[in-house]
Amino acid sequence: MTEMDFFEAVKDRRRIRRYTKEKVSDDFIVKILEAGRWAPSADNSQPWNFIVLRDKEVRERVAEATTWGEFLADAPIGVAVVVDPRSSTHSVEDGAAATENMLLAAHALGLGACWIGSYNSFYEEAVKDILAIPKDKRLLSIISIGYPDEYPKKDRKELREITFTDRYGRK
Ligand SMILES: Cc1cc2nc3c(=O)[nH]c(=O)nc-3n(C[C@H](O)[C@H](O)[C@H](O)COP(=O)(O)O)c2cc1C
Repeated sequence: MTEMDFFEAVKDRRRIRRYTKEKVSDDFIVKILEAGRWAPSADNSQPWNFIVLRDKEVRERVAEATTWGEFLADAPIGVAVVVDPRSSTHSVEDGAAATENMLLAAHALGLGACWIGSYNSFYEEAVKDILAIPKDKRLLSIISIGYPDEYPKKDRKELREITFTDRYGRK
C-alpha cells in the first residue's frame, strides 16, 4: 500500500464534520467512488448507486432535512449511497460496506468524511424526494467529505470486552 498503511487508515479514521474551504479534486472523488464500487456485496449484486452531491444548494437542502447532518451544507462535496432492496438479499449490508470503503478511502487521501445515517430515518423519504431517488430504492447513507478542520479523538471498547471464543459469553 502506498497512500497510507491499512491498519493506520482503519484506526486513525475519525468522523470529520468540519471542513476547510479547499475543494476536493475530481480525481479524489473518483478514487473514493472506486473504493465504494469495489466493496463486497451479497452474490456480487452491487445493488448501489452513488449520487455525488456537487451543488451547494442541494447539499444545503439535504442537510436541513436530516437530524444530525447539518454540516453537509458546509462540506465541499457529498455522496449519497442508494441501494435497491430487490437486487440483493442483503442490500443494507452491501450499502454499508460501500459506505465504509468510501470513508476509509477519503481518510487515506488526507480528507475527512462523516457517515450521515439515513436508512430507516424519519427523513429518508424527504431526502429521497430532494435527490429524485425512485420510491422503490432506499437511501442507505449520505457521506460528507472535505479537508479536515478538526481532529476529534475517539476510543473503542477493548478487544477483551467484545471478543468470545467458540460461543457467546465464553472468554
Ligand atoms: C450507521 C451510522 C450512522 C451515523 N450517523 C451519523 C449522523 O447522522 N450524524 C453524524 O454526525 N455522525 C453519524 N455517524 C458517525 C458516528 O457518530 C461516528 O462514526 C462514531 O461516533 C464513531 O466516531 P469515529 O467515526 O470518529 O470513530 C454515523 C455512523 C454510522 C456508522
